[in-house]
Amino acid sequence: MSQAALPLKQRGWGQTMRRDAWWVQPLAVFLGLAAFLVYANFRVFEGAHYYSGHSERNAATNYLTPFYSPLLFDVPGVRPSGHAWWSEKPALLAWLPGWVSPAALILIFPAGFRFTCYYYRGAYYKAFWADPPSCAVGEPRKGYRGENSLPLILQNVHRYFLLFAVLFLFILSYDVWHALWFKDGAGGYRFGVGLGTLILATNVVLLTGYTFGCHSMRHLMGGGRDCVTKAPLGHGFYECVSCLNRRHMLWAWLSLFSVAFSDVYVRMLAAGVWADWRIF
Ligand code: FES
Repeated sequence: MSQAALPLKQRGWGQTMRRDAWWVQPLAVFLGLAAFLVYANFRVFEGAHYYSGHSERNAATNYLTPFYSPLLFDVPGVRPSGHAWWSEKPALLAWLPGWVSPAALILIFPAGFRFTCYYYRGAYYKAFWADPPSCAVGEPRKGYRGENSLPLILQNVHRYFLLFAVLFLFILSYDVWHALWFKDGAGGYRFGVGLGTLILATNVVLLTGYTFGCHSMRHLMGGGRDCVTKAPLGHGFYECVSCLNRRHMLWAWLSLFSVAFSDVYVRMLAAGVWADWRIF
């Protein structure tokens, strides 16, 4: 069969023969991620309203927002929450300026996990620096260096962030356990379920679906082999997490939304803006 060599056409930035609304998806990604980044930064530096029980109106509740979990220490000047690893800032961290909240110290791990995620990389390369703006749309530069050199080669650290992400699932699950216990006003606790319990539990389920659908997790589950069919057990695990991986984009957005929504819900309780709905 004869083959004809077709010359690659170099297009200018944004030039394309596509007739569909190719710009809608990168624009939606830009708006979604930008909104999350602005809100997350506000919360990290706010250094308040992270524990629902701080509000008189919701004093019986026991919800800690995922943005501040694990809570290394209670913010100076804020009543103890009972969730902090240290009741006050430890001497080891005394040199940190006051505006560095406990959230700022731990969010590097979930943020790093998302920032280096294979799905998000493809999405924000298009949405934030048009590289390329979309498939078959001209890019702003001529050479393609990929992720083989600095700084983008550092994205390979994703597999290590995965280990921290799994650890955070345990920590957030423990917070859900705490959210099942309501203060009875006599110094004890009673088992119960509130709307906040369900929101925090749903958040953990969505984060688990996102984390276990990770491409690095698939590799890990397959025994780190290039050919998973040679290891029947690893192949079974690989197939199992592949179910989640097929919808990785969906899990990524649902879990991002649920983290933000869980924080908004707990923040409003902690600020006394609204009251928790106690189901039983
Ligand atoms: S590839 Fe998305 S979390 Fe690992």
